[in-house]
Amino acid sequence: MKIALLGHGTIGLGVDHILKRTGGPEVTKILSLIVDDEMAGRTASSIDDIVSDPEIGLVAEVMGGVHPAYEFISKALSAGKHVVTANKAVAAAYFAELTALAEANGVSFRYTSAAGGSIPWLMNLARAKRVNPVLALSGIVNGTCNYILTRMEEDGVPFGEALSDAQRLGFAERDPAADIDGADTLRKLVLSLNVAYDTALREETLPCAGIRNITPEDLAFGRALGLKVRMLMKGGRNEDGSVYGFAEPVFLPADSPEGCVRENMNLVSYVGTESGLQRFSGYGAGRYPTAYNLVEDILDAVSGTAVPYTGHIAPVAVRNDLLMRRYYVRTSALPEVPAHIIESTDGTAAVTRPVSPADMHRLAKLLLEKDPLLFFAGMEEGEEKC
Ligand SMILES: NC(=O)c1ccc[n+]([C@@H]2O[C@H](COP(=O)([O-])OP(=O)(O)OC[C@H]3O[C@@H](n4cnc5c(N)ncnc54)[C@H](OP(=O)(O)O)[C@@H]3O)[C@@H](O)[C@H]2O)c1
Repeated sequence: MKIALLGHGTIGLGVDHILKRTGGPEVTKILSLIVDDEMAGRTASSIDDIVSDPEIGLVAEVMGGVHPAYEFISKALSAGKHVVTANKAVAAAYFAELTALAEANGVSFRYTSAAGGSIPWLMNLARAKRVNPVLALSGIVNGTCNYILTRMEEDGVPFGEALSDAQRLGFAERDPAADIDGADTLRKLVLSLNVAYDTALREETLPCAGIRNITPEDLAFGRALGLKVRMLMKGGRNEDGSVYGFAEPVFLPADSPEGCVRENMNLVSYVGTESGLQRFSGYGAGRYPTAYNLVEDILDAVSGTAVPYTGHIAPVAVRNDLLMRRYYVRTSALPEVPAHIIESTDGTAAVTRPVSPADMHRLAKLLLEKDPLLFFAGMEEGEEKC
């Protein structure tokens, strides 16, 4: 079976190199806006050039973005080609549609590297849930945010400088909004919850906040209590059968496993009814780490062992109003925070009494209209040390 690549940038080139180095299936066609030397003799003229080629059995989409990635993946699946992708934006936005299209055409649709880069996270989540209902999942899945937070903590640099360094080192995109505002973390949460619970949640239905407004003063608040901030995805099953899920910065013990994750590393975990806590750590991004997981998906699909990550997809209720946690809120609009939810305040920031993520994110949205520089973060305690 021959392979086609859609995109020949950071990850596409990585996939190409690994397949060559390991004698994997041959890449015979590449669709890219800019033709580079390594594509010689393999340039595809269009997506139709690829989907009409009977020799090509698998398409690896590594272009990024939602459109035209969605249309190209749909064409490939409809033409009976397996598809693997590292693109969380398209996989999360069109999860139900693409999963159904793959099933209808009897081919694989795999997106392991879209959540966790090199980490075999979705693969293990899909295996685990068969015998081991997933009670909760969480993790650090955005290397850019973690790098920024580490630089701020360890080198005392302000947010803007840490972000510029992340961009210079290639961790952050030229437009870093999806990373620093939490959308990237949220999309990885959507994929994780959909796999864990055989559903098709959409990112618009889950609350999300990022680290764009974090200041050294926020970090100093945590340091005084032995806490660090990490950008986390959090999800799980409520006792009533509904599902919760949100992405937000969280203060947690500096010596907890998450608190010990430095720079652009990722750490994800789930709690299963039988297995208990399972943790996975590794590079969440980067050319070869990410391409590695794409190649694993390619080999599974080509060998016919790529079992679908979801079974029968069914709707599930989302409730973020049942879990209660305390929050740190720093805002010039502090007088607008209802007094009955404030546990303590120094006049600049407050720690709330336990409130639900649904209520906190709703309140923050209102407060942000008055104070666009507001920062808030969940507060977690934990016994576990790294
Ligand atoms: N980089 C990472 O560490 C990482 C980690 C995990 C997941 N991912 C995901 O992997 C995907 C690819 O990321 P990347 O870092 O490899 O991006 P990239 O370096 O920008 O490469 C994307 C490639 O696709 C090409 N392209 C874009 N639109 C196209 C179109 N309409 N038709 C044909 N070619 C097109 C680009 O061409 P031009 O260069 O000419 O624009 C470029 O060659 C993204 O979905 C990203 O989220 C990346």
